[in-house]
Amino acid sequence: MDVVFLNPSFPAEMPDFVRGLSEVGARVWAVGDRPVAGLPPKVRASVTGYLQVPRLLDEVDVANRVIAWLGGRRPDRVEATWEPLVLTAARIRDAIGVPGMSRDTVLGFRDKQAMKERIAAAGLRVPHSHRVRTASEARAAADKLGYPLILKPIAGAGSADTFRVDDAAGLQDVLGRMGHVTEASCEEFIDGEEFTYDTVSVDGTPGFENVAQYLPRPLVARTERWISPIILTYRNLDHERLAPGVALGRKVLSALGMESGFTHMEWYKKSDGEVVFGEIGCRPGGARLVDQMNVGSDMDLFVEWARAVCHGRVHAPAEKRYCTAIVFKRAHGSGTVQRIEGLDRFLSRYGEHVIIDELLRPGQPTRDWKQTLLSDGFLLVRHPDAEVTLKLAKEAASTIDVYAG
Ligand SMILES: Nc1ncnc2c1ncn2[C@@H]1O[C@H](COP(=O)(O)OP(=O)(O)OP(=O)(O)O)[C@@H](O)[C@H]1O
Ligand SMILES: [Mg+2]
Repeated sequence: MDVVFLNPSFPAEMPDFVRGLSEVGARVWAVGDRPVAGLPPKVRASVTGYLQVPRLLDEVDVANRVIAWLGGRRPDRVEATWEPLVLTAARIRDAIGVPGMSRDTVLGFRDKQAMKERIAAAGLRVPHSHRVRTASEARAAADKLGYPLILKPIAGAGSADTFRVDDAAGLQDVLGRMGHVTEASCEEFIDGEEFTYDTVSVDGTPGFENVAQYLPRPLVARTERWISPIILTYRNLDHERLAPGVALGRKVLSALGMESGFTHMEWYKKSDGEVVFGEIGCRPGGARLVDQMNVGSDMDLFVEWARAVCHGRVHAPAEKRYCTAIVFKRAHGSGTVQRIEGLDRFLSRYGEHVIIDELLRPGQPTRDWKQTLLSDGFLLVRHPDAEVTLKLAKEAASTIDVYAG
């Protein structure tokens, strides 16, 4: 089994997907923008061949170079698990006839307007929305939708350039800040709780499923620095709070023609109980969600993803054993971490539940919390009970402080 894998070294999770492929017996032909000597050791240990490309985000150029490199050989799979490369992988598949989702199918996971149109056509509830290219189109859409509304790029990620707009003056202000965005989605603001629905699927059928909740909603988390955002993953997806979202998610996969691989969907639950689709990607969630799911189910989804795409199977335990929560901390001040308060106390009380501790330590440089969800590090806790897990996470959020200067 020969697999072409796009970009083995970035983001940080990618080397583990390469490892997964090699663990299920695939030969990995990796494509990235770093020189061979700069590849992480895990990648070097697992790849058979490597092609360095000059402009990783140039879809057509990368596709042409990979096809030339293959020189008529046809691999069994061409895969990418990082959002900006999923269309490139599909373009290569289309060009040389490799199984997997076509570029048109992948567009349903990448273009936020096309995705909503395809899902609405299947009779599922999506926010009312319009594709807009100019300020006057945005104003016309706002007249139809009313306020509040959301304006965001068609191919956004990381909540960058996503704005809540409350009135016409606000729209004017936001349009001024979105000048560099050429195409946006203008949509109805959905008030409610915000969840994910994640899968590793085989031919559109989930072999592993997960639901997580964002606390608070990402748009809020990214506007206030003092917040320590929490992502809580649930153990029992049959619970009445979550089941309607899972049902929506499964229908979305079939509406979009999902085949095999990771999916990461976001959905909203309104106070009246209605569930509304948010967005979906055919790749895993970021912000260490894969680790979180692994820890909750005592499994290795990097390997199970590889098994799904190479062998059409997923080995998942019948039951999840834990809920997990990840708490991201943002330092007071920026520069270099000087001290951490509350961590020793938290670890001495609850250390047995702390599975990963990647909080920055004194001497390390702080990060830009607007640029990376990981902020100044995180703790990952787990416990069989959802309420206890959330209580642990909230205590970490409110009693641990990182000081920098
Ligand atoms: N129609 C909507 N109603 C209410 N909130 C919304 C809506 N669309 C987006 N948001 C808020 O903005 C956030 C970012 O939007 P979205 O997920 O579409 O963008 P993104 O840039 O792909 O984000 P990310 O990569 O962080 O998931 C959402 O998580 C949600 O909190
Ligand atoms: Mg999102």
